Amino acid sequence: MSAVFNCLKAPLWSLFFALLICLPVQANQSAIASAHPLATSAGIKVLEQGGNAFDAAITVSAVLGVVEPYSSAFGGGGFWLLHRESDQKQVMIDGREKAPLAAHKDMYLDASGNVIANASINGPLSAGIPGTPAALVHLAENYALLPLQQTLAPAIVLAEQGFEVGEFYQKMAGWRLQALRDSFSASEIFLQDDDVPETGYRVRQPDLAKTLRHLAEKGFDGFYRGEVAERLLKGVRDNGGIWTEKDLSGYQVIERPPVVFNYNNKKIISAALPSSGGVVMAQIFNILSAYDFKNLSQVKQKHLVIEAMRRAYQQRAKYLGDSDFVTLNLEKLTSKFHAGRLAEDIDLNRASLSKGLVSAAEGRDTTHFSIIDNEGNRVAATLSINYPFGSGFVPEGTGVLLNDEMDDFSASPGVPNVYGLVGSQANAIEPGKRMLSSMSPTFVESDKGIAILGTPGGSRIITMVTQAILAMEDSLDPKQWVDLPRFHHQYLPDQVEYESGALTAEEIKQLTAMGHQLQQVDNPFGNMQAIYLDKKTGKVSAASDSRGIGAAQVK
Ligand code: GLY
Repeated sequence: MSAVFNCLKAPLWSLFFALLICLPVQANQSAIASAHPLATSAGIKVLEQGGNAFDAAITVSAVLGVVEPYSSAFGGGGFWLLHRESDQKQVMIDGREKAPLAAHKDMYLDASGNVIANASINGPLSAGIPGTPAALVHLAENYALLPLQQTLAPAIVLAEQGFEVGEFYQKMAGWRLQALRDSFSASEIFLQDDDVPETGYRVRQPDLAKTLRHLAEKGFDGFYRGEVAERLLKGVRDNGGIWTEKDLSGYQVIERPPVVFNYNNKKIISAALPSSGGVVMAQIFNILSAYDFKNLSQVKQKHLVIEAMRRAYQQRAKYLGDSDFVTLNLEKLTSKFHAGRLAEDIDLNRASLSKGLVSAAEGRDTTHFSIIDNEGNRVAATLSINYPFGSGFVPEGTGVLLNDEMDDFSASPGVPNVYGLVGSQANAIEPGKRMLSSMSPTFVESDKGIAILGTPGGSRIITMVTQAILAMEDSLDPKQWVDLPRFHHQYLPDQVEYESGALTAEEIKQLTAMGHQLQQVDNPFGNMQAIYLDKKTGKVSAASDSRGIGAAQVK
């Protein structure tokens, strides 16, 4: 009964709706959808060994960190959105990287105040203090059933025995070749004779296996204190980085209440700051709520979604940053009233104008997985090291590939980062601050069922998850959501990027006539992993994006 009671803390106006969607549910099946088949199968095995969704989340995170070094790694961070069925607890585990204590707002500027190209992207100066190892320990100590030795074991074996290089790995390594070559250890591990490895080459990571053993045996201290920490610090500091012992030993995971909002009889639970995902999504959906969206023509619906994206990303650029450092009125920012104000100047027949032009990009960095176990516990987790292969730097003897998440700060107000995102003082670099993120692990609950989803994709993550939620209006098959062709607007640059098939020829014609700048993008958007639980039948379905090499498994 306490589970139901907890759930009824929802606002009064939504009491009836809350009652319908918050009752405990029993999933008859478990499922995992992740960006790599080895991670999915390792997670399923842990469930079979008696682990719960949180044990599986540790295993999947760790295996992805080994076999997808271009997406996530132990030198990175992420957000783990959890639902614990026994007490209906919903929480976001914030394992985001932090700026080192010696960081300062001008650290990537030259003497004339201009941003130094690539300084926040390559090498150890671009790396924030990693959060993933601490987050896995936190999950193990607070939510999981099995010891870390057991849940990290599959990743340790894969690090020792290696995994085979495929086409996608080659593409990512080719993209980041120079950064990897610049680091002796990264080149030894991830390249073959200092070049992109051949298909089938085995990437073995014995140093990483040793580091993971320390983590499994000693928990937090196995990574952030003692010999691993000493090697991390030496590697970073000998190569121009600024980490200190205090940065590592003082790193803390934070449990944060997720952002929760309603749209069309759905309760959406998503990432809290320092991810902008939940706030930006709430703004987009609140703007849509101000219209009779369903009864608009297809092209007007798309126009309105684009205008909502534009405004929400403008708010992101202006206001959002680490809520531990900046004072924000989140209640106001995510209110329907505020969305109404934002929507005031939307013309249903004309595109608005965002001022200025910058360029956007998306690497196939970052990764997402979704898990449900047969108790109804669930995890949506998005992990990253930022750019493909992060900073490209591995401190010698650790096997730990470091992130370049410092680029997610606003190096200078109005100057775009690698994703073309601009920011303000709210996201300026400060010692110990977490950089703003777009990672948006999300649950969607309705009286019919529960969805668990998320995707990589840099600045486009939020709009991809938004479109998947909109697609739930028409289909409850997660395959439809993950494979949906997508479009994106992020305020600046003032253009709509779209994948082939996202807009019909007629929509392209009409949106152009309304004044939208449309830009078809050849590289696919994202790599979504989604699960759906049908509440009535207890049946679970799962899907991995056809754009990637991932796997979804139901058991
Ligand atoms: N590094 C991508 C993000 O956190 O949004």
